Amino acid sequence: ARFAAVVVAAGSGTRLGAVAPKALLELGGRALVDRAVALMAECGADPVVVVVPAAHREEFAAALRGRAVTLVDGGAERQQSVLAGLDAITDPAPPVVLVHDAARPLVPPDVVERVVGAVEAGARAVIPVVPVTDTVRRVDGDTSELLDRSRLRAVQTPQGFDRVTLVGAHRRYAATPVTDDATLCELAGHPVALVDGSTDALKITHPFDVLVAEALLARRAN
Ligand code: C5P
Repeated sequence: ARFAAVVVAAGSGTRLGAVAPKALLELGGRALVDRAVALMAECGADPVVVVVPAAHREEFAAALRGRAVTLVDGGAERQQSVLAGLDAITDPAPPVVLVHDAARPLVPPDVVERVVGAVEAGARAVIPVVPVTDTVRRVDGDTSELLDRSRLRAVQTPQGFDRVTLVGAHRRYAATPVTDDATLCELAGHPVALVDGSTDALKITHPFDVLVAEALLARRAN
């Protein structure tokens, strides 16, 4: 295969106010994790590794409905979950790996293709980004400062990597907490390449996001 995928789904979903893990939340009758995995598989990922909360393995296996995936137990932080997933990619391992959040179930396939294509064209770390629509201020105690919105981008997943580069960066910076994988490659000295993401690739974090995702799904079905 051209690329492997690690889908991280081991988060708790406390901001969603849910009792079950967030990735098991159903959207249009299918769990978020099932949608995210199907997207990766349909775009050509093989193998697909899914990182799940250890205490909920059975429910994840059921939600994935017999799909050909490798299930791995997650860690306390996303970064640890990703490394556990990377370690489960067995030989022959593809040269490219995508790391994707199960919480982003509606990524358009053309975003995936842009990310993989940019890695194949030579970038070691690739991120899909979208413009920021709100005006943004940086807060420091009682003061705040306007940031130049035209130069800001919101970062999405799937992020794409030269697999060996990403594994090396994850091991080397395992003790440096970051919120995405490209930043680890940057710490290791590799520039990060940007491609266009999509507003459809929203991350389901708060109950509001579920409403938006349901509306997007309804639009697709029509
Ligand atoms: O918490 P946040 O929404 O940023 O998490 C992004 C993704 O990382 C989610 O898909 C979540 O399931 C995953 N995650 C994980 N292991 C953790 C924390 C988050 O796999 N310990």
